[in-house]
Amino acid sequence: MSLILGIESSCDETAAALVTSDREILAHKLAGQEAEHAPYGGVVPEIAARAHAEILTPLIAAALDEAGKSLDDVDAIAATAGPGLIGGVMVGLVTGKALAMAADKPLIAVNHLEGHALSPRLVNPNLGFPYLLMLVSGGHCQILRVEGPGEYRRLATTIDDAAGEAFDKTAKILGLGYPGGPKVQALAEQGDAQAVPLPRPLLKSKEPHFSFAGLKSAVVRAYQNGAYRPEDIAASFQQAVVDCLRDRLEKAIGDHGRCANLVVAGGVGANTPIRSMLERVAGKHDMVFTAPPQWLCTDNAAMIAWAGAERFAAGLTDSLDFVARPRWPLDPKAEKARGAGVKA
Ligand code: KG4
Ligand code: ZN
Repeated sequence: MSLILGIESSCDETAAALVTSDREILAHKLAGQEAEHAPYGGVVPEIAARAHAEILTPLIAAALDEAGKSLDDVDAIAATAGPGLIGGVMVGLVTGKALAMAADKPLIAVNHLEGHALSPRLVNPNLGFPYLLMLVSGGHCQILRVEGPGEYRRLATTIDDAAGEAFDKTAKILGLGYPGGPKVQALAEQGDAQAVPLPRPLLKSKEPHFSFAGLKSAVVRAYQNGAYRPEDIAASFQQAVVDCLRDRLEKAIGDHGRCANLVVAGGVGANTPIRSMLERVAGKHDMVFTAPPQWLCTDNAAMIAWAGAERFAAGLTDSLDFVARPRWPLDPKAEKARGAGVKA
């Protein structure tokens, strides 16, 4: 049994966790920065980096304290090394390196996306490789075949915006504040999903990818039109996202075949209608569906510690000169999706 300290600081959550290779979460601490970013309606990278630098060390101390452990008890230190806002990533990675050096422990540089991708295995010991993963977060929207730690095949990605970005933009337009996903979902519960005609970009397209930029602009136009209730815009928008995700997932299964398991990960995976749709698609194809609890879908350090545990077990540790990466695809061999501004 090994004990891993996980550190996360790639966006606007500062987090530290202690997780064992036996799937025991001994501590997980999270400090959000909503109040700092709220006046700007989105994450400001400089503010985020400064906030991480202030809070991370006390947060790690608090996690060790809660677990009743010291650094000496830890077998390895896993820190997010990208992709993300580079200032924040550097704070977490440098902290991880310093602790690794001081305590003479191995460092594991974790890809934040791998943290999301492996997180369902932290809560489901029966989830074996390979599995089909719908990875939907603020920065990414991908379908992947997960074959093992460090082994991913990207089947689809977004050619413009991520699903979470579209949720956040819709929330901003409707004046709901940041982060938008949960607020749009709550408002949508009171709305009519058929009320506002909105596009489903790339629906039935021969290419495998996602696109949300056109949907985002259509939400702006619907709002400016003035004829629609905000709850109807929210519900119709959410339904459009559900329809796009379903269509692209069906295409991936049609093109590449099913797996025994379908899983969702990433912040947008906390969305209830999206989870219900994925469960239906899984049932239709005789796949077992795993959705991590909502707190594990959004950014946290337990998933980074767990990815660290998986990599540690596979003998994958990193040297202290590992450089932080603002971009870091899970599948480096994947063909570039068309379009300017492609993020993955
Ligand atoms: O994975 P995550 O915490 O951070 C990134 O790595 O990007 O994802 C954050 C994204 C945000 O865009 C947020 O609005 C969205 O996840 N999100 C949701 C929900 N909860 C969080 N989107 C839709 N419905 C939700 N319930
Ligand atoms: Zn994330």
